[in-house]
Amino acid sequence: MNQDENIVWHSQTVTRAQKQLHKGHKPVLLWYTGLSGSGKSTIANAVESKLFELGCHTYLLDGDNVRMGLNKGLTFSDEDRVENIRRISEVAKLFVDAGLMVSTAFISPFKADRAQARTIMANGEFVEVFIDTPLEVCESRDPKGLYKKARAGEIPNFTGISSAFDIPESPELHIKTAEQTIEQSVEQIIGYLSQAGIIK
Ligand code: PPS
Repeated sequence: MNQDENIVWHSQTVTRAQKQLHKGHKPVLLWYTGLSGSGKSTIANAVESKLFELGCHTYLLDGDNVRMGLNKGLTFSDEDRVENIRRISEVAKLFVDAGLMVSTAFISPFKADRAQARTIMANGEFVEVFIDTPLEVCESRDPKGLYKKARAGEIPNFTGISSAFDIPESPELHIKTAEQTIEQSVEQIIGYLSQAGIIK
């Protein structure tokens, strides 16, 4: 028997619009994607700080932290990365439903998974932020020493070296970290949110 047949969606009494009433900004999912060491976490944290100063209700789901809890035990195989991103998208959607400005900072290397995350969100509530840092730059930064280990063959399936990263084709925001400062990247993102009417 298919158990899904016996599962019924419940409508809620407090509507989505009511939950957003007092927030002064629209709910949104800022989906950061980019190579390891590209600067996703740094920029997502700096943007969140700025939004917090502006009085926005924010939440940040960040790479390694989520893999220590919700997604503990998932590996870096293609299959587990798909599941990692699927769970993150669903959790982010819940926070957006609650009216928050949510940021996710994960490599999210596969185009199909990012597209799926976009699909489950309402129109205009998914903002893809491509943290575009060339592999050579990420490798020279190597903040956790992982590229060195990956080159030495000590880490299998390492993104950019032995595992794929699909370049985003039409992200809402294209951030070239090798060409600008962190502050300029933050300004670019905040400027977009303001122009799009997500923040005032
Ligand atoms: S994914 O692809 O979206 O599921 O990856 P994510 O959950 O964002 O985790 C990326 C961080 O895990 C560390 N790490 C690896 N990255 C890529 N490939 C392999 N094999 C790997 N093993 C460990 C790495 O520190 C990533 O952190 P960031 O913050 O991206 O540098």
